[in-house]
Amino acid sequence: MKLSYFGFTDGINEVIAVTFGECVNTAPVGIIVEDAESREAVARLYPSHTKRNVERNGKLWANVVYDPIVWALSSFEDLDESWFETLDPPVIRNALAWCEFECAKIDEGNPAVFELKLVKGEVLRSYPKTVNRGFNALIEALVHATRYLATGDQKLLEKIEECGVLIRKCGGRMERKAFEIVLRRIR
Ligand SMILES: Cc1cc2nc3c(=O)[nH]c(=O)nc-3n(C[C@H](O)[C@H](O)[C@H](O)COP(=O)(O)O)c2cc1C
Repeated sequence: MKLSYFGFTDGINEVIAVTFGECVNTAPVGIIVEDAESREAVARLYPSHTKRNVERNGKLWANVVYDPIVWALSSFEDLDESWFETLDPPVIRNALAWCEFECAKIDEGNPAVFELKLVKGEVLRSYPKTVNRGFNALIEALVHATRYLATGDQKLLEKIEECGVLIRKCGGRMERKAFEIVLRRIR
């Protein structure tokens, strides 16, 4: 079993991380991979529910998902259980794959650095997918929006609007709907 089997490539892999605390928690996280032919990865986590849950129980499930609404909602809140196909393992509806990682903190800084080891996973669906610049711009907008909410840096608002131009031009209905969620959150 290796990371590449589940769609991971060398570099930063954006996934929806599912962790467990008092309830199920969902948030986008970048899984950093040096060698996708291995089981090892790294995550850098700023203070969040995800970080707290991983510190408490050392587990994180990555979901490989392309649903724009799942990305937008998970960035600002937690998906409720109706969004899941199963909770054991935690699989978000229409996820292409899930992976379970064991996590160990290796650096207490901010962000804290965790070493991740792939222990289990499954490919549930697989289909060809073209690149959509609107979807990619949505992911960028979400990165800026979550940073904006954490820092209040006004310059990020301009970047979000630039992403909005691309989302409106290249995205589909779901990307545009997801961007509405972003705008509602930052206003
Ligand atoms: C595409 C994307 C990637 C992200 N990657 C990370 C990451 O690697 N580490 C991190 O701490 N936050 C990351 N974030 C921000 C968190 O998802 C965000 O702060 C979220 O609200 C945390 O939710 P939680 O408190 O439920 O864990 C990312 C956000 C997006 C949109």
